[in-house]
Amino acid sequence: MDSPLINIMQKAAKKASRGLRRDFNELENLQVKTKGPANFVTASDIRTQNIIYDELSYAKPDWSFVMEESKPIENKNTKARFIIDPIDGTTNFMHGNPNFAISIAAEINDRLEAAIVYSPITDEMFTAERGKGSFLNDKRIRVATRKKLSESILITGIPHLGRGNKELFMKEMDMIIPEVAGIRRSGSAALDLAWIAAGRYDIFWERGLSIWDIAAGVLLVREAGGFAKGIDGSDKDLWNGNIISGNDDIILALSEKLGF
Ligand code: IPD
Ligand code: CA
Repeated sequence: MDSPLINIMQKAAKKASRGLRRDFNELENLQVKTKGPANFVTASDIRTQNIIYDELSYAKPDWSFVMEESKPIENKNTKARFIIDPIDGTTNFMHGNPNFAISIAAEINDRLEAAIVYSPITDEMFTAERGKGSFLNDKRIRVATRKKLSESILITGIPHLGRGNKELFMKEMDMIIPEVAGIRRSGSAALDLAWIAAGRYDIFWERGLSIWDIAAGVLLVREAGGFAKGIDGSDKDLWNGNIISGNDDIILALSEKLGF
């Protein structure tokens, strides 16, 4: 049975997704601003965030909010907060690529309690609650059990204009390309983690992410029986946005190769 908390999170995402689907079909009218080099925000990001914020703050007026497109909002309850990315994968969205998602996590006393990652175009709703497992459209999901790199698909972020450490990336690729069954780059870290939870990918790692990119996905992976930590093995590194995720065995195999 879903809790009232996760129900309101799903309801908020579904409501906001209607406008997103409409905007996705009319991309020629999309208003876009640049936040930094190759870092964009569209009118759809803002509208989606506003709808989610209105829904969730109506249901939980005391809760605090951390959201990609505004400053943090501190309310009476500073120990309970929603962590929201209205569109994770904005660049994909702008290019007509359907691989983007709404990501919402609920955290109480520094512990993740509930998470949803919703893909409006494929209508895939990934959900998790602490201690209750992870689900895709209400069906239980689990991380993959592959132990060998030679059978595994890896997913990561590729550095680009204004982002990431190209030299380090090239060095890591040099070491692992000959070892693995495939490497992917999707453009949505929230969906990458949701797909790890569903066993569609074996390992995800990326540096320099933000808390709203990964908070919901981290709970999805953990509740699906997987591992999500900082690249140096600590939670501090994780919440600084340097993440590695998968099943324990495959992470060990990769760490040995890359010296994590
Ligand atoms: C981005 C996506 C992408 C990751 C970037 C993020 P945004 O989020 O998660 O996969 O590589 O670092 O910024 O900007 O589309 O919300
Ligand atoms: Ca994001």
